[in-house]
Amino acid sequence: MAGEPSEPIVVAIDGPSGVGKSVAAKMLAQALGFHYAQSGAMYRAVGWLVESHDMSPRDGDRIAALVAETMIDIVLCPGQSAVWVHGRDISEALAGEAVGKAASAVATLRAVRQTVTAQLRRLRCHGSLVMEGRDIGTVVFPDADVKFFLDASLDVRARRRWQEMRQAGYGGTFEEVRQAIAERDEQDRTRALAPLVPAADAHVIDTADFSIDAVVQTMVSETQHNILRGNV
Ligand code: C5P
Repeated sequence: MAGEPSEPIVVAIDGPSGVGKSVAAKMLAQALGFHYAQSGAMYRAVGWLVESHDMSPRDGDRIAALVAETMIDIVLCPGQSAVWVHGRDISEALAGEAVGKAASAVATLRAVRQTVTAQLRRLRCHGSLVMEGRDIGTVVFPDADVKFFLDASLDVRARRRWQEMRQAGYGGTFEEVRQAIAERDEQDRTRALAPLVPAADAHVIDTADFSIDAVVQTMVSETQHNILRGNV
């Protein structure tokens, strides 16, 4: 890319469930030649572990001990990020709203957030990075070079998610999907630690009005503009 900076740069993308962050972040990373990291997969891995051990998400002390003794790694592969637990790639087990719900519950716990945040910050050492999540621009990388907050109404997000799930063979109703997303959003927006909120210096993009290509193009232009302007 013209005017490429010598220091690794970080692009933070935050936003609520079902807004299209993962697709947009992957496309942006590919367009810029940066790594892509999906921070939610780390919280999903903890939620999955808690369920596999038949623990309640309310059992904070036992979860803290479990997280401390488990090797959970986020691994950057070309064009995607994977999560490994004790040396095994568990990424495939992390899809779906049930794991998302468990992730949102454990993401309220301080010990979990501290461990995951430390792991995420290390990823900058690998080079320039697009990371998506809920608190990337506010907590993980408050000094990120460019920040985006993608948004859309609950109905728009639920419809997109429902259509994706139906294509994957899901037989539930739109109302069930809408309800699950609304509950997860409420928990993510109102928790005491690192709540979902746009960073003061984030570019807020309402994705309802644009195609994914248009959203990514806006983000590419804004990121390049920042680099050329010497803001990084
Ligand atoms: O992005 P994804 O839907 O996979 O995230 C699952 C859950 O993980 C979210 O609902 C949120 O509670 C939590 N999360 C978080 N902070 C992040 C990323 C995800 O609290 N940076």
